[in-house]
Amino acid sequence: MSFQENISLKPFNSFGIDCLASFFVTVTTINELNEALDFAKERQLSFLIIGGGSNILFTKNYNGLVIQNKLTSIELINEDQDYFYIQASAGEEWHQFVEYCIQNNYAGVENLSLIPGSVGAAPMQNIGAYGVELKDVFFKLEALEINTRIIKSFSLKDCEFGYRESVFKTSLKNQYIILNVTFKLAKQPKFNVEYGAIKTELERMNCSELTAKNISQAVINIRTSKLPNPKEIGNAGSFFKNPIISEVLCSTLKKQNPEIPIYPSKNHQYKIAAGWLIEQCGWKGFRQNDYGCHAKQALVLVNYGNATGKEIYNLSTEIKQSVYEKFAVELEREVNII
Ligand code: EPU
Repeated sequence: MSFQENISLKPFNSFGIDCLASFFVTVTTINELNEALDFAKERQLSFLIIGGGSNILFTKNYNGLVIQNKLTSIELINEDQDYFYIQASAGEEWHQFVEYCIQNNYAGVENLSLIPGSVGAAPMQNIGAYGVELKDVFFKLEALEINTRIIKSFSLKDCEFGYRESVFKTSLKNQYIILNVTFKLAKQPKFNVEYGAIKTELERMNCSELTAKNISQAVINIRTSKLPNPKEIGNAGSFFKNPIISEVLCSTLKKQNPEIPIYPSKNHQYKIAAGWLIEQCGWKGFRQNDYGCHAKQALVLVNYGNATGKEIYNLSTEIKQSVYEKFAVELEREVNII
């Protein structure tokens, strides 16, 4: 394990932002992780754990230690009559985990195919796509408490999952490092193809059989047709969350814009498609120098090459302001700003 000094973070964030970290280290075991934490403590450095770097926007150099979590392993740890229990280490790439499940005929995560990022980052924000969220297949996770260095187990309830939310983003923020996640995958899978685009894509693919593999392929086709590949165009997926609004605001907006995509949420509230709001404000396809708003999905901000994190952040502020002025809806950033 070697600590590197003043290295560019460009290869380690999917936005491809060229910022420097004062120190950088890759850890592959819990012992190495503990050594890295000691290194930061002895030097009074702040530290930042990254997985795939796919939900982060660096707006300045990182004056501290960046720890890249590369703890890897995927294992069937248990099974009972109804479920397979699969444990994956936090540093595994999320899509590789999905592929492992599909190859072994474990169903449940196929709708979450091709989401960039790592297994450890997935519960942080309860990743979700096409009608499935991580919480639907979650059993437990283990995390290292930074202060005490004790490994603690978190059940589904402990994680307090919500829409792109978990306890690790709220009351326990910056207190734990996720080490591994155990998934509970039903032996009798209930496939979720309610999300319109999936059904249409399966029909287009002429799929006679509903299998995890076919659904995964449909999701991959949809995602690749709409979302930019971070290896080609820097991005962090959805930059904003889909806002949750009150019933009153919902009916006002619906009167003014009958075609607005709104879905019922919890507690008589409604979720609006942020991509639609942003598109209505004229941002879809906007490009200035190397930063912009993707032409096929307005919720995704992009770096065409040499954009700075500040430029992308400033664009997000302008987008927030224009959406607020036009619709009185406050957009919240989903991406972590550093
Ligand atoms: N829409 C527009 N213009 C746009 C984008 C979307 O009008 O530029 C409209 C669409 O026509 C559709 C609605 O908005 O009626 C929803 O669009 P879409 O199905 O593309 O999904 P989304 O709500 O924009 C969410 C997630 C995505 C996830 C998709 C599919 C959030 C913040 N985003 O996007 O997650 O892949 O649903 O389930 O919840 C991510 O988090 O990084 C991400 C990509």
